[in-house]
Amino acid sequence: MRIVLLGAPGAGKGTQCKRIVTKYGLLHLSSGDILRQERTAGSELGKKAQSYMDSGALVPDQIIVEMMSSAICKAPKSSFVLDGFPRTVNQAAELDKSLMSDGQKIDFVLNLKIEDKLVAQRMTGRRSCPQCGSVYHIENLKPKVEGICDNDGIKLVHRPDDSLDVVENRLKTYHKQTEPVVDYYKNNNVVYDLDANKDADDVSSLIFEKLDALVKA
Ligand code: AP5
Repeated sequence: MRIVLLGAPGAGKGTQCKRIVTKYGLLHLSSGDILRQERTAGSELGKKAQSYMDSGALVPDQIIVEMMSSAICKAPKSSFVLDGFPRTVNQAAELDKSLMSDGQKIDFVLNLKIEDKLVAQRMTGRRSCPQCGSVYHIENLKPKVEGICDNDGIKLVHRPDDSLDVVENRLKTYHKQTEPVVDYYKNNNVVYDLDANKDADDVSSLIFEKLDALVKA
């Protein structure tokens, strides 16, 4: 099963992907997480991506397509869920081209729809584990011990691009460059819109219901 999760910053893509991989045994490939790992490692790729990420702009397509193609190639049995990629129509077309050359395609696109006014609250309250990538929220999804990851006991951090001014830019970038990707996939009849304004457990139930039905069909 090859799935793409689309949605604005804070729609809950990372949160829901972690639950999807646990239930369906897929590989979670997050372009944002891979870029952050490259930055932490101080690689050339990480250095190139830094200024774009810090300002809320998109990293150039060519860099992202190469990075994600290499990650997808390593996915066992080509079963994966993509989080944060593709984010432009050009990235989506390049992904299709590369999958098609191996006789594969994207099976389902889950489009998490969230109102803009909820995004700032979710982003400014997010806390992430720099080691395992687990995501929490200071009000909505608290860790058992404040400021500490349940999974590995590491101190949680507030992502620098979760400040209000950068979140505004990320949202603008999403509307301009990523929303057209939904229409791109709608032409292929694989898009399922889901209400991501609900609480995280309700959104998971909607996703599991949809995926279970699609897998059985
Ligand atoms: P990336 O890391 O992909 O950021 P994003 O898409 O902006 O998404 P987020 O990770 O911020 O949000 P999310 O939807 O995963 O929400 P989450 O589950 O964490 O990208 C970062 C940067 O890298 C980009 O700006 C760009 O520069 C670059 N980049 C990445 N991919 C790229 C690409 N393909 N091309 C070019 N550049 C690229 O949830 C958010 C918070 O809300 C959490 O605190 C969570 O606990 C809480 N929450 C989640 N769901 C709910 C709910 N239902 N109810 C209440 N709270 C909830």
